[in-house]
Amino acid sequence: MIISRHRTSQRSDVAAFIAMDVMSQAAALEAQGRSVVHMEVGQPGFPAPQRALDAVKTALPSPLGYTVALGRDELRAGVAALYRDWYGLDLDPRRVVMTTGSSAGFQLAFLSLFDAGDRVAIADPGYPSYRNILKALALDVVRIEGQAETGFQPTPEAIHAAAKQGRIDGLLAASPANPTGAILDRAALTALIDACHAGGTTFISDEIYHGLHFDERAVSALEISDDVIVINSFSKYFAMTGWRIGWMVVPEALIPTVARLAQNLFICPPHVSQVAALGALSAHDELEVYRQGYARNRALLLERLPQIGVSSFAPCDGAFYLYADIGHLTRDSRAWCEDVLINAGVALTPGLDFDPVRGGQSVRVSFAGAQDQVAEGLDRLADYLTGKRG
Ligand SMILES: Cc1ncc(COP(=O)(O)O)c(C=O)c1O
Repeated sequence: MIISRHRTSQRSDVAAFIAMDVMSQAAALEAQGRSVVHMEVGQPGFPAPQRALDAVKTALPSPLGYTVALGRDELRAGVAALYRDWYGLDLDPRRVVMTTGSSAGFQLAFLSLFDAGDRVAIADPGYPSYRNILKALALDVVRIEGQAETGFQPTPEAIHAAAKQGRIDGLLAASPANPTGAILDRAALTALIDACHAGGTTFISDEIYHGLHFDERAVSALEISDDVIVINSFSKYFAMTGWRIGWMVVPEALIPTVARLAQNLFICPPHVSQVAALGALSAHDELEVYRQGYARNRALLLERLPQIGVSSFAPCDGAFYLYADIGHLTRDSRAWCEDVLINAGVALTPGLDFDPVRGGQSVRVSFAGAQDQVAEGLDRLADYLTGKRG
């Protein structure tokens, strides 16, 4: 008899990504023939833009082998041009590093900047993988408890307070944020970056939801300083989650370090996705139609959720999420979401995914899908909450 002698590492003992668990549970119900409205997953319910698909069609007969680790030159130049269009910035394309989604960007950023045991701050509620990737890389997570008055975003005061327990080596912030959609305005972002620079803390800006705003556009950290790390992706605004393609903008001095890590860890981001991404960069007309769809969904939720008794939300300035307080309905958002999934056929993500301490009383509603689905989800929730279902 073979006895397994494998042990697992302590670093791999990270929490599950609950949104993905909800997705699997929903898929199991669908496999039994049940209908589920998907408002759990943070991905557009639409395909990649046609320009991306056309570019791939043209390229498919060619070998599509490895590319250089930092990505194809024309794509890096295309991304640099986006910074001119969106923010009026003149960005050297050599500072653009193509990555296998922003998820690989985090690994490259954390590995190139920090050593095991370094302390990196993130605000809760926040994207769950931040904490889990940091832990897997043996970094210490410094939890900042986001406050409703400041859109649950980190503040200079919170950084100073956290620094009293020990030096903060890095701060990672997202604007618009997941799960709240809250945007840091120019003054707030500037104050945060200044506080980081004054304290010797590296500022990492997750800008994955840029392009998805409902009023004022989000400010890039690069508009404020070149001495920051920016992480972005084709997953959200460009509607290309499964293509696994993203980018970082790094200070010039960091390029060789990131290049060596990227060569060894990933070789290169998927070539076919780099081709698609270059096509997507000229698809703003198609993507604007998607964005208007999210705006309509958001308006529908903001109108109808209060009618069914859910009326306290985070700011929801951008991205495609609404983070709602359900403290009057439950203290265990995980159990509540499971009940809603089984009895109402609506998949939602419990707040515990984003805030392990306070998230038992909140829920994230994703409105990245089609409008008829959002409307159907609201009808089902209304029935559930008024006791007609479940
Ligand atoms: C804030 C945030 N950052 C990063 C990611 C990961 O995205 P990618 O598909 O680019 O790896 C997500 C995914 O939901 C996210 O919400």
